[in-house]
Amino acid sequence: MNASAHVITADLLRDLARDLLTAARVPSGAAEVVAGSLVEADLAGHGSHGVRRIVPYLGQIDAGVIRPGAVPEVVSRRGATAVVSGRRGFGQPAARLAAAEAAALAAAHGVGVVAIRECNHVGRLGEYAEALARQGLIAQIVGNADPTVAPYGGHRRMLGTNPMAWAVPRAGGAAVVMDWATAAMAEGKLGLLRAAGSPAPEGVVVDPEGRPSTDPADFYRGGALLPFGGHKGYGLSVLIELVGGLLTGTGTACSPEYDGTFGTVVTAVDVTAFVPLDDYVAQVESFCEALRASGPGVVVPGEPEAGTRAERLKEGIPVPAPVWAELTGLASRLGVPWPDMPPGG
Ligand SMILES: NC(=O)c1ccc[n+]([C@@H]2O[C@H](COP(=O)([O-])OP(=O)(O)OC[C@H]3O[C@@H](n4cnc5c(N)ncnc54)[C@H](O)[C@@H]3O)[C@@H](O)[C@H]2O)c1
Repeated sequence: MNASAHVITADLLRDLARDLLTAARVPSGAAEVVAGSLVEADLAGHGSHGVRRIVPYLGQIDAGVIRPGAVPEVVSRRGATAVVSGRRGFGQPAARLAAAEAAALAAAHGVGVVAIRECNHVGRLGEYAEALARQGLIAQIVGNADPTVAPYGGHRRMLGTNPMAWAVPRAGGAAVVMDWATAAMAEGKLGLLRAAGSPAPEGVVVDPEGRPSTDPADFYRGGALLPFGGHKGYGLSVLIELVGGLLTGTGTACSPEYDGTFGTVVTAVDVTAFVPLDDYVAQVESFCEALRASGPGVVVPGEPEAGTRAERLKEGIPVPAPVWAELTGLASRLGVPWPDMPPGG
């Protein structure tokens, strides 16, 4: 029982999310993909990238940032590489197409590298990396984003939150999944803290004058996020700008050329180009078991999300009350029937 959240099944939430999007004139194919991705993020426990994104996405459609009818396509191929254009439509269909293209290239060449240009927000990178790992591939995805993060030692917004994901196949269709922002906190999570009136942990935000702060509002009034792990997270973020931002033509986040999109690069490696897949997966599994056996608090990256997903498929997804209220208001404006569901269900 969660008194401050509305608990709803994944299937119903997916249907409602799709209905909201289609009522806002998003074509049904894109609405289906976007709703599916958002609910997968909620199932994984990353509400920052879940259905709470619908309202800002619709705002981006109104502002001409997202072209809802645009269909992504492969615009060029050379050897084991390809370029996908998201055509400034929703990022999720573009990321799915790029992952499928990377898998096809890896099947042909042992490796596939796909740059996505004109790509809007793709949501949770881990979704696409995990899907590739389930096909027996090692996946890496990086993406730059609009400038919100200060470089290590500075306080001006120069870098995106610049997420990166890696995924590796495990036994039984599971995957080791490492997937996070190189900012100390993803902006969406800071937004959730602000909505809840909660402070941010130390080391996440500086105010507009560059002073350390625990007030999420300081970021929204012109401060900056910090990279995670001091110079190490900063260095990764720099590399993501230079790979994600520049190979896609998006530009680095702080440059005058930056086009406001999310320069995303997907790499897939066919394990069988190096070692037999069964041997590889068996060794991954015994390594994961050794890690878990090394201490009662030890889990393997990807396990927290898999555990939350299993639990939420059974018990339902808790949608925080402020997010529920926002979606209820949107449904009433768009004339979408919305369930009368009290919190704590
Ligand atoms: N599209 C974008 O522009 C964008 C930008 C930023 C973040 N994101 C997404 O936001 C999501 C959340 O990012 P985040 O920075 O909040 O992630 P996070 O800090 O919650 O880290 C999640 C990762 O850490 C692993 N993990 C968590 N606890 C662990 C433990 N105890 N032991 C081992 N591994 C553990 C998880 O399995 C997962 O791989 C990600 O899916 C990311 O792709 C997207």
